[in-house]
Amino acid sequence: MSGKYLVTGGAGYIGSVVAQHLLEAGHEVTVLDNLTTGFRESVPAGAVFIEGDIRDAAKWLDSAYDGVLHFAASSQVGESVVKPEKYWENNVGGTTALLGAMREARVRKLVFSSTAATYGEPKQVPIVESAETSPTNPYGASKLAVDHMITGEAAAHGLGAVSLRYFNVAGAYGPYGERHDPESHLIPLVLQVAQGRRDAISVYGDDYPTPDGTCVRDYIHVADLAEAHLLALRAARPGEHLICNLGNGNGFSVREVIETVRRVTGHPVPEVLAPRRGGDPATLVASAATARETLGWTPSRTDLAAIVADAWEFARQRGN
Ligand SMILES: NC(=O)c1ccc[n+]([C@@H]2O[C@H](COP(=O)([O-])OP(=O)(O)OC[C@H]3O[C@@H](n4cnc5c(N)ncnc54)[C@H](O)[C@@H]3O)[C@@H](O)[C@H]2O)c1
Repeated sequence: MSGKYLVTGGAGYIGSVVAQHLLEAGHEVTVLDNLTTGFRESVPAGAVFIEGDIRDAAKWLDSAYDGVLHFAASSQVGESVVKPEKYWENNVGGTTALLGAMREARVRKLVFSSTAATYGEPKQVPIVESAETSPTNPYGASKLAVDHMITGEAAAHGLGAVSLRYFNVAGAYGPYGERHDPESHLIPLVLQVAQGRRDAISVYGDDYPTPDGTCVRDYIHVADLAEAHLLALRAARPGEHLICNLGNGNGFSVREVIETVRRVTGHPVPEVLAPRRGGDPATLVASAATARETLGWTPSRTDLAAIVADAWEFARQRGN
């Protein structure tokens, strides 16, 4: 059945890909984005666009909406350490206003972009949803606070909600891809080196307890991630808050990513060894068992070379 959905942050990387998937599935989509880190041209054709802030969501939300997919946030870990107040204001304050507007308008379904950063340093990998949550930075703490707010909203006011805790999202979906500024994610950074836009890629530490000594992360294709959002809309039940990790359950090391970029692009990628960064866990890999069992989700683009190839195609298109 088709529905009408508000996508906050739909001019950003992941929100634009999900908005496009919703449109392809026959839904009506309104994107609400203040363009702080997003781009007007990333809003898919076919979506209604409102340039505005989630803190003013009550101006636009009404009972004609079947649900909200909430991507809008500040999401730079490093920045959150030096400007924590921005993260409490935008992520927690913004979501408080959004939840209030949803309550007022009787919009009863929410899918929220949570993050692996809510767990902090894992005691066990793969990470399951019942693992201890002990974020190591204000970004992760603000997202965890929102998860708690949503749990209360579901219990007290009947919201049906799913928090999806993404691991490392990567790849592109046609014209929709990663354009963070400054870029902090590994795959687009390595691709910038392959394009000659950056001299070398820094490898922060090669003495971690991992097979090649570099950090291991779980990369998930953004199109697989988008499909999980559509399934989450179906799985949301009034009064319940479901939390699901989204990852491949497979880790790739920093050196494997660099090597894959060399192979896929055919370009040299010089690397420089740098000291470890504080707060970088050796291995972050998701258990995706809950998403499989409760959403019926199976990622289909798990091959790192395929993820890199899509991101490369997007980077080349933009380069041109
Ligand atoms: N990229 C990842 O690997 C990753 C991993 C885990 C979680 N997440 C979460 O996924 C979501 C989307 O991430 P992304 O990589 O697409 O980021 P992005 O910066 O590309 O997109 C965020 C969008 O939200 C908008 N926005 C921010 N504050 C707003 C506000 N107050 N009102 C209206 N719009 C606002 C921005 O303009 C931007 O278009 C974020 O919530 C992020 O925390 C991302």
